[in-house]
Amino acid sequence: MNNIIWHSATVTRARRESQNNHKGIILWFTGLSGSGKSTLAHAIEERLHQLNCRTFVLDGDNIRHGLCSDLGFDDKARKENIRRISEVAKLMMEAGIITLTAFISPFRSDRENARKLFPHGEFIEIYCDCSLEVCEQRDPKGLYQKARDGVIPHFTGISSPYEAPERMEAIIKTDELAIEESVEQIMKLLYERGIIKNE
Ligand code: ADX
Repeated sequence: MNNIIWHSATVTRARRESQNNHKGIILWFTGLSGSGKSTLAHAIEERLHQLNCRTFVLDGDNIRHGLCSDLGFDDKARKENIRRISEVAKLMMEAGIITLTAFISPFRSDRENARKLFPHGEFIEIYCDCSLEVCEQRDPKGLYQKARDGVIPHFTGISSPYEAPERMEAIIKTDELAIEESVEQIMKLLYERGIIKNE
């Protein structure tokens, strides 16, 4: 980058983490629309908040109102959407925050690019595994119906692909488990990896 010089902070990530009493980490949720990404991310955030952790959820529908309001849903726009989110997540990680992202992020290559921004072990990919049939039955926003009717183009699972993860840190069967069971599974992983400490 020409004429732009990185300025290092004296309040480092390590100092922030020590003050917070936990590490900064990315919990990257991926899955079809309606697979439960946002619900699960917010439920885990609630638990972590009660444990006094610093957290933030970056949520697809919300981010597309602001930071990514100029982007649509063709492949190029989704790639740019995920690129921006990854960079924001990286900043949040530097701030020592446990960052939970809830984006369909349908393309493996975009998730891999996101992963590459983070040191090994600090990017936790969580696949919300829910069949298209169940997502379509739930259809909480009525979007699947619109996609089937041809009103919404490039709809994930209908007219745009979803590439399920091949290597991920966790897979949650959101069409079989109750929310609390899913939350427990992720909390266990966070304790096992030493991201949060047992009281
Ligand atoms: S992503 O593919 O770029 O990661 P993102 O998670 O930001 O998608 O946004 C997905 C949300 O946008 C869906 O939950 C849905 O509410 C809405 N949406 C609107 N149009 C589409 C579309 N064509 N495909 C998928 N989701 C869509």
